[in-house]
Amino acid sequence: MILITGGAGYIGSHVNKKLYKKGYETVVLDNLIYGHREFVKWGEFILGDLEDTNLLRLVFKKYPIKAVMHFSAFAYVGESVKDPQKYYLNNVKNTLNLLQVMLENNVKYFIFSSTCATYGVPEKIPIPENHPQNPINPYGKSKLMVEKILEDYSKVYGLKYVSLRYFNAAGADPDCEIGEWHEPETHLIPLVLDVAIGKNEAIKIFGADYPTPDGTCIRDYIHVTDLANAHILALEYLFKEGKSDVFNLGNGNGFSVKQVIQTVEDITKRKINFIEWERRPGDPPVLVGSSEKARRVLRWEPRYYELSVVIGTAWEWHNKLYRDFKK
Ligand SMILES: NC(=O)c1ccc[n+]([C@@H]2O[C@H](COP(=O)([O-])OP(=O)(O)OC[C@H]3O[C@@H](n4cnc5c(N)ncnc54)[C@H](O)[C@@H]3O)[C@@H](O)[C@H]2O)c1
Repeated sequence: MILITGGAGYIGSHVNKKLYKKGYETVVLDNLIYGHREFVKWGEFILGDLEDTNLLRLVFKKYPIKAVMHFSAFAYVGESVKDPQKYYLNNVKNTLNLLQVMLENNVKYFIFSSTCATYGVPEKIPIPENHPQNPINPYGKSKLMVEKILEDYSKVYGLKYVSLRYFNAAGADPDCEIGEWHEPETHLIPLVLDVAIGKNEAIKIFGADYPTPDGTCIRDYIHVTDLANAHILALEYLFKEGKSDVFNLGNGNGFSVKQVIQTVEDITKRKINFIEWERRPGDPPVLVGSSEKARRVLRWEPRYYELSVVIGTAWEWHNKLYRDFKK
């Protein structure tokens, strides 16, 4: 059985579905602070917080857990700057609780949701895994701390882990059963889709004078179903090879804010109004990762890499979200 912390959230729910389809049994643990009970359509569900070490002990006692996939965290960069304690407590301390109970129960396999935010301002593009890690906000630092803790634990406690550094997760389940639903939403694609669907008047572009072809920031949007596939491959790699490692997961192609807006217009056939605004501090002009290592070692093959496919699935989901959930 696989324990999925944060499995009621965006990425965890897609991984839960994929695990189920592959024949794995799963148990999701989520406090539903940001997750949605409706997203846990597969496996078992436990409402609870990682802070609660006793609950974790009960979960490991009740279920024959072989591996843990750890998605639960707070992930709002701006909030992490204003309230770092909140981030270090949930992202670091609660992860330590989880690892402690795993080790007490002799559970050795761990897949960790890390982030490109651990790199900070890139020195080269595309960013490889051995790029220096100098995160510039508490969110990125909290994730880097966990990466370092995993390194140390694996040396002495026999923990086998894979840290997956995602770039920008985007898109939705191609069957449209689940998708992105963050409250508040800060990710570009759903925000542009909010304009397309008529919930917002215009999208703000933070900086249109960057040294990029159209002046707007370029980011790497990786489809959530491709991310989910990579998690299965990473888990099976750990089971087979038993070797801890770190992989970037990105599209390999960058797309600018204006390209995203244009593609949303093409797909939705609606006009997207935008306002060119000031740059946000700490936003590098280009963030694109190299996923060559995941392709080579895990034999990962992203399938939904075209921006039109990423946005097409997101648009289908966005319509369903307003129709069925956010009524
Ligand atoms: N979305 C992205 O683009 C992206 C990029 C890089 C890394 N990540 C990382 O991937 C992971 C998943 O991201 P997401 O976008 O699916 O976020 P999400 O907010 O949708 O999912 C996180 C889930 O964790 C749950 N949770 C948080 N703290 C908890 C706790 N203490 N106990 C139990 N449950 C708790 C929330 O209720 C939520 O369901 C996060 O760790 C995030 O930092 C996300």
